[in-house]
Amino acid sequence: MCGIVGATAERRVAGILLEGLRRLEYRGYDSAGMALLNDEGLQQLRRVGKVQALADALEETGANGFSGIAHTRWATHGGVTEANAHPHFSNSTIAVVHNGIIENHESLRKKLQDLGYVFTSQTDTEVICHLMHHELKSTDDLLTALQATVKQLEGAYGTVIMDKRRPGELVVARSGSPLVIGLGIGENFIASDQLALLPVTREFIYLEEGDVARVTRDKVEIFDHQGAAVQREQQTSDLQYDAGGKGEYRHYMLKEIHEQPFAVRNSLEGRVNGDEIMVNAFGENAAEIFKDIRHVQIIACGTSYHAGMVARYWLEAYAGVSCNVEIASEFRYRKSHVFPGSLLVTISQSGETADTLAALRLAKTLGYRSSLTICNVATSSMVRESDLAFLTRAGAEIGVASTKAFTTQLVGLLMLVSALGHFNGMDKATEARIAHALSTLPTKLEQSLKITAEIEELAEEFADKDHSLFLGRGDQYPIAMEGALKLKEISYIHAEAYAAGELKHGPLALIDAEMPVIVVAPNNELLEKLKSNVEEVRARGGIMYVFADKDAHFASDDTMRVINLDHVDELVAPIVYTIPLQLLSYYVAIIKGTDVDQPRNLAKSVTVE
Ligand code: AGP
Repeated sequence: MCGIVGATAERRVAGILLEGLRRLEYRGYDSAGMALLNDEGLQQLRRVGKVQALADALEETGANGFSGIAHTRWATHGGVTEANAHPHFSNSTIAVVHNGIIENHESLRKKLQDLGYVFTSQTDTEVICHLMHHELKSTDDLLTALQATVKQLEGAYGTVIMDKRRPGELVVARSGSPLVIGLGIGENFIASDQLALLPVTREFIYLEEGDVARVTRDKVEIFDHQGAAVQREQQTSDLQYDAGGKGEYRHYMLKEIHEQPFAVRNSLEGRVNGDEIMVNAFGENAAEIFKDIRHVQIIACGTSYHAGMVARYWLEAYAGVSCNVEIASEFRYRKSHVFPGSLLVTISQSGETADTLAALRLAKTLGYRSSLTICNVATSSMVRESDLAFLTRAGAEIGVASTKAFTTQLVGLLMLVSALGHFNGMDKATEARIAHALSTLPTKLEQSLKITAEIEELAEEFADKDHSLFLGRGDQYPIAMEGALKLKEISYIHAEAYAAGELKHGPLALIDAEMPVIVVAPNNELLEKLKSNVEEVRARGGIMYVFADKDAHFASDDTMRVINLDHVDELVAPIVYTIPLQLLSYYVAIIKGTDVDQPRNLAKSVTVE
């Protein structure tokens, strides 16, 4: 979603800002802009489309400055136009970039119009710069004006503001949208994600909810929501920024698919001890909390929600605890029941997804025993605001379509099954089976990647279709859902997933030769049931593509193409069977020529509602 970069330095900053925006491109955006302050005043450059268009404009104009703010916008209020792109200006004096949504923008706009301010965009953001301009009529201090401004805002914001009368000074505020300050020598920076600043610093301060700060070249002052000066911890990032290169791969998504054996190995490192899962992988006091847990409530969105759905099958089958799974945007707006001894589990690649974060904050008021997040970003809001955290160590995921984050989430969740089961009567043999299945998983994933050539061929048959159906049963049903989501996201082919047993209750009506049906068929206790569902499709002239365990004895014929996978313990089959579906989506998208890493209309991290 939107990205922010700001800099104040003794050197010219346009290049730093531009590189920062490039590093945030993966988040998804539709326009980009920059404001630069130099002796000639405040310059504003904005372009619809890619950051490259902004780079071209910078080169043409030669614009530069010793301080500046930059933004990639993902449209919420107002269409994708140059006028709606950030930074927004008030009276050619104040420049503002903003992530999030100002919910009371209409009433503020009215009030500001009555005061004589003229709006030049349809955005909610523009109210911030006019409010700042207005507040600066009664104070000389930029930070005081910002404190007065944020008091009037309802909604979510991460915002950075500069004033042409105060060179070298940036003021920032965070509420609901992350911001990090990057520390340099004689220069300081600000961004919505540390990835943007890794070329210039490894030293960071994460702002907390409600913080406002003044950032100059050699000083950072932070104040909490009550206006008290506070110190926030300085952290050194050890993140390996691999987003700069796709290596031998054509797209980040393909690279990330192939990184999965490594990412899973990384996620397991030091967390499996022989036949046992180390409970402290979830936090130092995890054992103390887990012994009280009798129920798990999982909350997540999109792909992470699918991981949660798999976990529900696992938890109830193996750990002896009941489990509910819910989409965060639903959970946060309904009244729900909290079972005694409930653990609230959020799952998120980014740890910043607005709905999941809001659901976590709400749940913390509802009486859960404790909260755990399964997350890929150590410094994220969800990690910081949860009692326990399992870090998935997948490495930076750049492709909008989540791949390695999903499989490593499943690894964390299967470890959770063992850890909770340990306190709920799980027998030693099952604990050992989980530990063994996880330890051998990276090799199984390597094997599953070997069917790439076969899938490329299959994608050829698939790419001219408009609709498709994904089928699975049991813990493969969420995998079918994930396969359908991947295909939708990057190939724009309509895809639906059904629990195969549900077919005859409606979707069977859709079956004909133009509706390919993808079936995930590991060798488990539901195999025979699934085979009957396959026959139901065949009898109606459906064309099937079956990803099957080689011991499941499916045979290819005119109506069915079988892609065999090596046998794996059914415990980890959901993780292994995810790989061919990811590859299928990828190669179909390649044939269709879509923007695989940044599919239309989507953002990597959905930080607004
Ligand atoms: C997955 O391919 C998606 N792009 C999307 O569904 C994503 O999983 C969802 O937005 C949740 O994100 P999170 O894991 O960062 O919370």
